[in-house]
Amino acid sequence: MEQLLKVSNLQTGFSKDGQVQKILHGIDLQVNKGEIVGLVGESGSGKSVTSLSIMQLLQGTSGKIIDGDVNYKGVDLLSLKESAMRKYRGKELSMIFQEPMTSLNPVVKVGKQMREIIMLHLNYSKDQAHKHAISMLESVGIPRAADIMKGYPHELSGGMLQRVMIAMQISCHPSLLIADEPTTALDVTIQAQILQLLKDIQQSTDMGVLFITHDLGVVSEICDRVVVMYAGRVVEELPVDRLFEDARHPYTKGLIQSIPKIGANKRKLFSIAGTVPSPRNMPTGCKFAPRCEYAMDICRQKEPDLLPSKYGKSRCWLESTGEEEAYERELSYRD
Ligand SMILES: Nc1ncnc2c1ncn2[C@@H]1O[C@H](COP(=O)(O)OP(=O)(O)OP(=O)(O)O)[C@@H](O)[C@H]1O
Ligand SMILES: [Mg+2]
Repeated sequence: MEQLLKVSNLQTGFSKDGQVQKILHGIDLQVNKGEIVGLVGESGSGKSVTSLSIMQLLQGTSGKIIDGDVNYKGVDLLSLKESAMRKYRGKELSMIFQEPMTSLNPVVKVGKQMREIIMLHLNYSKDQAHKHAISMLESVGIPRAADIMKGYPHELSGGMLQRVMIAMQISCHPSLLIADEPTTALDVTIQAQILQLLKDIQQSTDMGVLFITHDLGVVSEICDRVVVMYAGRVVEELPVDRLFEDARHPYTKGLIQSIPKIGANKRKLFSIAGTVPSPRNMPTGCKFAPRCEYAMDICRQKEPDLLPSKYGKSRCWLESTGEEEAYERELSYRD
């Protein structure tokens, strides 16, 4: 399998009152060609900060990458100057945001915005870029694409805007697409259409996709592999076809239980007890321990490493030691 993106030990923090608050504590993940990797976790787990760090879009915030590597096709992206990175963004690696207006300019016509990005990266003439833009809009199912090109983003519905955004971001044939909750702002029917569209595009282009969501249901529908984040750490990684049977981490199991089932009573929907800890007030030991029904003493005292599990990786004392052994260890830890 051809590796596209390899993130190793990525650490990012934000400075506040002269102090750096670390948010990502060493993220490791990989996206291969032709693969959709789901990045999941509750709100605040650091999914967006991970994607912004990879794309180096932290300028304008107090955020800074503190350590780690972001390797794309053998190039160390973190060593690139902004001018060099700009050649990669939109051309090699593209990003779709939850809110399309984050990347579309409301006062510039759709056509002009699309042409500009195409002319910049593909060296097309204005006329060629115009034709390419129309064909891209048509490929994402936009009717009357030539008319849409003449309009402004604010004239479009949410679903249409997200399609324009996708067309724009794939117009220069990126090898890697990062989609940060691209459908959460849309209603369920449109959401399903956009997910299917992304899946179709990915299959016809063989792109690698890092798909960010808090919804494991969506992951199970479109992803090949899943990386689960909690409190700025990767806590589990698994092939999606092993997710439901072989998830090892109690947090992943909790997320699986929280997937709404068709026909289920919404009021009785399961949710993991407790809340994500604040970066200012992280527990020692495993960050999930205060919410974990299996937590042992060792879990509250020492953070487990992310270690190989049967089908992937897991950061859990139960997994890394085996339950009995963990119990033994817990006893010896007490002495
Ligand atoms: N610009 C910023 N300045 C300071 N702290 C930030 C900034 N952006 C994010 N953070 C902090 O980083 C942590 C992770 O945020 P992030 O947006 O990555 O979460 P997320 O997993 O994407 O959540 P969601 O599902 O809500 O999008 C949060 O504690 C947040 O407060
Ligand atoms: Mg986010």
